[in-house]
Amino acid sequence: MKQRRAFLKDSLLGGIAFIAASCGWTSTSAEKSQEESNLKGNKPIVISTWNHGEIANKVSWQILEKGGTALDAVEQGVRLVESDPTGSSVGIGGLPDRDGIVTLDASIMNHKNECGAVAFLQNIEHPITVARKVMEETPHVFLAGEGAYKFALEQGLKDTNLLTEESKKAWEKWLEEAKYKPIINIENHDTIGSLALDQHGNLAGACTTSGLAYKMHGRVGDSPIIGAGLFVDNEVGAACATGLGEAIIRIAGSNIVVEMMRNGMSPQKACEAACQRVIEKHQNVSGLQVAFIALNKKGQYGSCSIHPGFNLAIHTPKQNGIETAKHQFI
Ligand code: GLY
Repeated sequence: MKQRRAFLKDSLLGGIAFIAASCGWTSTSAEKSQEESNLKGNKPIVISTWNHGEIANKVSWQILEKGGTALDAVEQGVRLVESDPTGSSVGIGGLPDRDGIVTLDASIMNHKNECGAVAFLQNIEHPITVARKVMEETPHVFLAGEGAYKFALEQGLKDTNLLTEESKKAWEKWLEEAKYKPIINIENHDTIGSLALDQHGNLAGACTTSGLAYKMHGRVGDSPIIGAGLFVDNEVGAACATGLGEAIIRIAGSNIVVEMMRNGMSPQKACEAACQRVIEKHQNVSGLQVAFIALNKKGQYGSCSIHPGFNLAIHTPKQNGIETAKHQFI
């Protein structure tokens, strides 16, 4: 709930910026410091979505500064958010689907184009670790539902109740009207996505979520879909997405961002171009929030959302904090 209030506050602040700049892209002092920092590049670096990215980055940074791998950094960072019961959109405490069941999606990708993902996973606290085990311990990329759950138990993860009292109460309240209408930046589009570049020059990414609150039972979003919620190409860069998964899947969002970087765009311009693509492919984006973060091989990063209110956390040797992303007007 604390995070939701923070998002609401960010939305309001973002709204003021939105009114102040009547057309085009917003420009903030955070953006200027990003550009300056980006001129030189950064290594190591970790960037993560939303306010909860800050606690993830703290753990990731401890690994990166000691020379650890980007893969360990992103996995360990997002695990912390998965364990936080106050977060209503990731792991324990994630809001359930319309049947009152918490189902989780996650994906992970390393610098060798190896990847692993799980979807519709229930009763497991750390879907990101199951995704990593799919990548490392199986010949497959993607496990879902009961099969993913059984595999997680085989790998030593424990059955865990993910529905907190607070989430259960929120679901019971929702049942009174049972209307499904996502609200920008507030209703659970706050996947934790994390991208890192380590001291060895390798990139990795991780993405984990409980998805949309009160979704249809069985609904899977973008987060576990390689190329949509997450994509890493160690020759070029990495990207991940947050927001309404259906819109991100429709444009293969994270893959688009990486391909734009391959063709010469900066991470910032690539995120802007992907947001523009979402806008062009949807007739009405007035209630649709999507955001991207991206990181290239030099440690330059970028971010963009369609609407105001999205922020990201950055940790480099010179910088540690939260920035508000650029947004595009409708
Ligand atoms: N981006 C998370 C979801 O739509 O499930």
